[in-house]
Amino acid sequence: MIQTSVHARRRAAVARALRAAGGGIALLPTAPEVARNRDSHFPYRHDSYFYYLTGFEEPNAWLLIEASGKTTLLCQPKDLEREIWDGIRLGPKAAPAALGVDEALSVDKLNELMPRLLGNQPALWFPFATHKGLQVQIDGWLGAVRAKVRMGTECPRSQHDLCLLLDEMRLFKDKHEQAILRRAGQISASAHVRAMQTSAAMLRAGRDAREYHLEAELLHEFRRHGSQFPAYTSIVAAGANACVLHYRAADARLRADELCLIDAGCELDGYASDITRTFPAGGRFSPAQRQLYDIVLAAQVAAIAATRPGRRFMAPHDAAVQVLAQGMLDVGLLDRKKHGRVEDVIASGAYRQFYMHRTGHWMGMDVHDCGDYTEPGSRPREETDATGQKITRRPSRILRPGMVLTVEPGLYVRPAKGVPREFWNIGIRIEDDALVNAKGCELLTREVPVDADEIEALMRG
Ligand code: GLY
Ligand code: MN
Ligand code: MN
Repeated sequence: MIQTSVHARRRAAVARALRAAGGGIALLPTAPEVARNRDSHFPYRHDSYFYYLTGFEEPNAWLLIEASGKTTLLCQPKDLEREIWDGIRLGPKAAPAALGVDEALSVDKLNELMPRLLGNQPALWFPFATHKGLQVQIDGWLGAVRAKVRMGTECPRSQHDLCLLLDEMRLFKDKHEQAILRRAGQISASAHVRAMQTSAAMLRAGRDAREYHLEAELLHEFRRHGSQFPAYTSIVAAGANACVLHYRAADARLRADELCLIDAGCELDGYASDITRTFPAGGRFSPAQRQLYDIVLAAQVAAIAATRPGRRFMAPHDAAVQVLAQGMLDVGLLDRKKHGRVEDVIASGAYRQFYMHRTGHWMGMDVHDCGDYTEPGSRPREETDATGQKITRRPSRILRPGMVLTVEPGLYVRPAKGVPREFWNIGIRIEDDALVNAKGCELLTREVPVDADEIEALMRG
């Protein structure tokens, strides 16, 4: 059931922004269908911006918002022959009542309608550089408008990136979105529990357990709770594979004395979740695994404490790096004689040998969601980085209630000279999704444990 009021409110906010910028019209297509091979298509996924403003999931549709507030949808016409093969279409007649738009037309009318609508509009807003061929299409329509200037029709004088406007709106999740994100987080957490328990049970029974067995459990759990897709390709990484950051679930064998890293989350009703857990495949951490695990967990605790309104986006990362770098010195991953104290390790960037990614990203409809990572209106600073290159830095975004970001520190130890052998090939990441609220943050994904003892207890069960 589409909640038209939620989407109507968002469309009204876009119209207000157009008025504030001096008027104009916004134009937004949904995503194209993509062929996989010959007659098969990739599962269709709507465009996130388009869905945000319509809740409409059919392909081949456009939304137009005028500064006056008038909204028009162009969608696939009813067509019994096509509907027998591809499924029911909403059609233009039913669309206004179903979606709350003012008017709906067949998408076949697009080329006829656009030059007419663009005439005498002061500005045109559309998503820049996201839809292949859109700019060419728009140029064609504007050419048709320009052909009429001798008759007194005016052509839009400016073009603006609609993404910038929508990115800022999407960065702050409303109550409707928060509820879906919470549910997506719960489903993904239950999938991780299921995968952990399956791993221990299969190895206890002496069965040949592979990464794909755990991926199958994840997908089963996502789907049985109504999730439409995984939010991204699931990572199930046995042993050393965990040190490959973008590893995919393949067919490697799970070994009882090795760790398994799972980074997987479902998409529910257009919203993502993103969880990583690292656990001993057989259910018990070795002392070396546990030592590193507890450092990553402590880094996550520090990062979560820094995820609160008023702090900056980079604060959780800086907090995590502090704990990780200290841990690297404490356990001998980094030699104090060579690397000095924790401040030196951070200043030199030596910690990047074992922690080479950021501690989080915005999350929402897209797993790596849109939104400016720097504070709007802040002054850039020129700096020189560790390699002597000049870089421009802007202060990172100030966290505010309604923002959702991941908190995902890790440690990845590839075999190397000077690195204690007992840590070789251990890769650990712990990732949760945090909704910033008035006091700090709410973790949306904690129905799967992170504490090492609790993970072991769960895997015994
Ligand atoms: N699963 C993608 C990420 O953690 O960023
Ligand atoms: Mn992530
Ligand atoms: Mn992830």
